[in-house]
Amino acid sequence: MSGIIYDRKNPFMATVTEAYCISEGSGKETNHYVVSLKESGIRYKPGDSLGFYPSNNYELVKETIRKIGAKKKDTIKGKDGEETTLADALHYKFTIHRAGKKFLSAVAKKMRRGKDKEDLEVILDDRDEVDKYLFTRDCIDILNEHPVQFTPQEFIDTLSPITPRLYSISSSPKSHPREVHITVAVVKYNNFERDRFGLATGDLSNRIEVNKTRIPVYIQPTKEFVIPDDSSKDIIMIGPGTGIAPFRAFLEQRIEEKGTGKNWLFFGEIHEKSTFFYKDEWFEAMKNGHLQKLTTAFSRDQEHKIYVQHRLLGNSEEIWEWLQSGSYFYVCGDKQYMAKDVHSALIEIARTEGKLKKEDAENYINQTLMKDERRYLRDVY
Ligand SMILES: Cc1cc2nc3c(=O)[nH]c(=O)nc-3n(C[C@H](O)[C@H](O)[C@H](O)COP(=O)(O)OP(=O)(O)OC[C@H]3O[C@@H](n4cnc5c(N)ncnc54)[C@H](O)[C@@H]3O)c2cc1C
Ligand SMILES: NC(=O)c1ccc[n+]([C@@H]2O[C@H](COP(=O)([O-])OP(=O)(O)OC[C@H]3O[C@@H](n4cnc5c(N)ncnc54)[C@H](OP(=O)(O)O)[C@@H]3O)[C@@H](O)[C@H]2O)c1
Repeated sequence: MSGIIYDRKNPFMATVTEAYCISEGSGKETNHYVVSLKESGIRYKPGDSLGFYPSNNYELVKETIRKIGAKKKDTIKGKDGEETTLADALHYKFTIHRAGKKFLSAVAKKMRRGKDKEDLEVILDDRDEVDKYLFTRDCIDILNEHPVQFTPQEFIDTLSPITPRLYSISSSPKSHPREVHITVAVVKYNNFERDRFGLATGDLSNRIEVNKTRIPVYIQPTKEFVIPDDSSKDIIMIGPGTGIAPFRAFLEQRIEEKGTGKNWLFFGEIHEKSTFFYKDEWFEAMKNGHLQKLTTAFSRDQEHKIYVQHRLLGNSEEIWEWLQSGSYFYVCGDKQYMAKDVHSALIEIARTEGKLKKEDAENYINQTLMKDERRYLRDVY
């Protein structure tokens, strides 16, 4: 073992030892990756996330350099004052797959007076309009629309640094020593007739060569999103989509710990046939008496949408019984819609099954369960 401490500032260069799609035939791409932590000394617990520093696609780097009329070997100074080639800076350090406001403002400043410049200034004065404009464009798109000149250094000075992305770990270290598994939904879209990818998910999907590519990673520990110390406690896990990731880790850990607590998993995805992530593992766990209940919601297998919160409401009585007998309640996945809808469903269950007034039901979920007893825990993004 190296004795070196790896963290956000000093990531470990890890090898990806397995990479495969778990949503074949669904039209979306969700991948399972196994990352080796051998020789790193890195430890983690279920509930932790893996931090990953992505790099920009090399074709995009080349195209961007060509667009600003520079050369790969031109040198620039980074924010730390260190000199590097333009190609390396764009590959490893700066965000170019989406443009930022600083770049757009610099373009507007360089434009000649006239209607185009005024139109852009109107956009720049309105936050929502800027967000809308930048949502679909990278630096190349903007320079196609407004061809202005930048020196390599000027260009670099308008960019923001690449930040690491987090992935909920989908393995227990007890079941997979010296490995970390992640479950990643690839962000893909097409704008102005060019295929686009999310920076990290595109990097993982397009660049990884198994047992060859090394990626900079570190562990982002959680304090809150942990399984109960007392393994006789029951747990309810709500994990639609990639929200399933930490619950694979939780269940593996609970099996290793030979706990007597019951486990109930809610999973939701688009189609049972193509996106029932880790189905065989859940069925095996059910067969062996490790997973007591598995409730699924496949949203697009029928005309009307069925989501995890509908299944929760359909099991109100039993959910309430579990909660009353001390069960923990976990939610992971989409923050914007799913987590809010699940939260409302939980309040509804407290109201109807607990026969509580609306304010009392809200107080029970928001204060008692979440804050006082810390039995309602979320990892949402
Ligand atoms: C604690 C935590 C745990 C997480 N766990 C997981 C996990 O287990 N699995 C997982 O997959 N993700 C997880 N995430 C999300 C993950 O960190 C990244 O945010 C995600 O993978 C996207 O990263 P990216 O670099 O590929 O995309 P980015 O380059 O950051 O791009 C994402 C952006 O693309 C935008 N976008 C999407 N579609 C379009 C479109 N059609 N047109 C224009 N823009 C669009 C989105 O609005 C979004 O802002 C987690 C996040 C957190 C904070
Ligand atoms: N921050 C980021 O950059 C980033 C990047 C990637 C993903 N995410 C978020 O992470 C989430 C996970 O993505 P994913 O691909 O794993 O799965 P997902 O998009 O969350 O989809 C999983 C399942 O949840 C369903 N769903 C949609 N709206 C819902 C709601 N209000 N309540 C409950 N279920 C709902 C989906 O149904 P339908 O699709 O059929 O409606 C699908 O069956 C995304 O929703 C996204 O918001 C964020």
